[in-house]
Amino acid sequence: MNFIRAALIILCLAVGFILVIKQTSAQNPSAPQGVAPAEKTAEQVYKNIQLFKGLPESQFLPVMNFMNASLGVRCDFCHVNKDGNWDYVSDEKAGKKTARKMIEMTGGINKNVFEGNPEVSCYTCHRGRTSVSHTLAMPLPTPEPRPSQPAPSRGPQTGNPTADQVLEKYYQALGGAAAIDNLKSRVMKGTMTTLAGLDLGYEITQSGSELVLATITTPQAGVVQRGFDGNRGWEKNAREIRDLGTDEIFYLRRYPDIYRDIRLKGQFSRITFGGKPKIDGRDVYLLRGTNSSGKRESLFFDVETGLLVRRTTSTITPVGTIPEQIDFSDYRSVDGIMMPFTIRVSAIDSNYSVVRKFTEIKTNLPRASRRQMLVLGPHASSRAR
Ligand code: HEC
Ligand code: HEC
Repeated sequence: MNFIRAALIILCLAVGFILVIKQTSAQNPSAPQGVAPAEKTAEQVYKNIQLFKGLPESQFLPVMNFMNASLGVRCDFCHVNKDGNWDYVSDEKAGKKTARKMIEMTGGINKNVFEGNPEVSCYTCHRGRTSVSHTLAMPLPTPEPRPSQPAPSRGPQTGNPTADQVLEKYYQALGGAAAIDNLKSRVMKGTMTTLAGLDLGYEITQSGSELVLATITTPQAGVVQRGFDGNRGWEKNAREIRDLGTDEIFYLRRYPDIYRDIRLKGQFSRITFGGKPKIDGRDVYLLRGTNSSGKRESLFFDVETGLLVRRTTSTITPVGTIPEQIDFSDYRSVDGIMMPFTIRVSAIDSNYSVVRKFTEIKTNLPRASRRQMLVLGPHASSRAR
């Protein structure tokens, strides 16, 4: 049972990472343009919320995971678990009580000292441990000689491209606008490896920007499939076929469509050139952007090939800024478009941290396979009867 649950979590994350839908009202004609359906807040979903009132539901568990990671603990450090049953509502544990004081303190420091900017987080002091260093250990280490640094060059940097030029080079490196416009659907097959080293069979089919089907094969739980058509989501596992709930769909909606890492232009309300750091010894161009949902993103492009090698997202929450990183590698040409055959996702939640390696990617499926994706489609459970 536990394994099935774990597989489902992983699947849902995996689908999420590749999929989603246009953020426009296209899939929901009744919704006013540009207005996302109102999300529930923490206190509308959970029972004993004293501090996180107003926090969007989608940020609640990431915040819990952020506290886990910042202190290097698991949920049971703060929450009661009796005989395998969680009682998250209970305030019995000292950790939860202390955490409430700490959440208030952290919020207070940011509000009163840093003008509301999220400068201090649980991690600032805790660094992955419950205990905090109160002072320096004696004797102090011998200070290292200061490296003689070249004087920072003043004045305008020459030779740096603009954000638009980096994005244009990326489009060319991928295969050009015509090849990108020609991409309508794709199937990717391979494996997904979890942080715990579990290897799962993995296949994902995407059609347009709103139709997706992901299949995970595990020796223990068999085949688990999740589909989403932009409106309704469904799941088929060894036990049942069911429609996904609105909370699960909300989760899927957070994630991108087939063009998410391809059509980067237009995804950012602001994007600027941010420097030329190195990743794995190679020069990369860094672009910093703010996306349409207000999250900060950093995009890294290989200077030589022009291809996207890393994308990071920061979500600002009351306890700290939650990072997420996706690394793209092993680019190969598929029908005229360069596609990464290895995608590594790193997140504070170990369930989200997976490496997907593809052995086969095919684009532009025949219409029949598009229809096949919907066989179990919307109202899956009623159809199955
Ligand atoms: C460092 C302590 C700490 C850790 C670790 C922690 N939590 Fe919490 N959790 C809290 C606090 C504090 C609250 C209450 C927040 C409030 O009052 O607004 C809470 C509330 C909750 C609630 C809401 C319960 C309800 O109905 O009121 C859930 C669910 C929850 N946590 C799940 C988790 C999970 C899952 C994990 C592990 C991934 C986790 N927490 C890790 C401190 C922690
Ligand atoms: C300004 C520094 C600072 C920040 C920020 C901070 N803490 Fe702490 N925290 C401390 C110190 C100091 C202690 C006491 C450690 C000790 O007793 O050695 C502590 C102790 C704790 C403990 C008790 C640990 C134990 O062993 O029982 C918990 C739980 C905790 N902090 C959670 C958090 C959470 C959650 C956040 C973010 C919302 C946070 N802290 C942010 C400094 C900080």
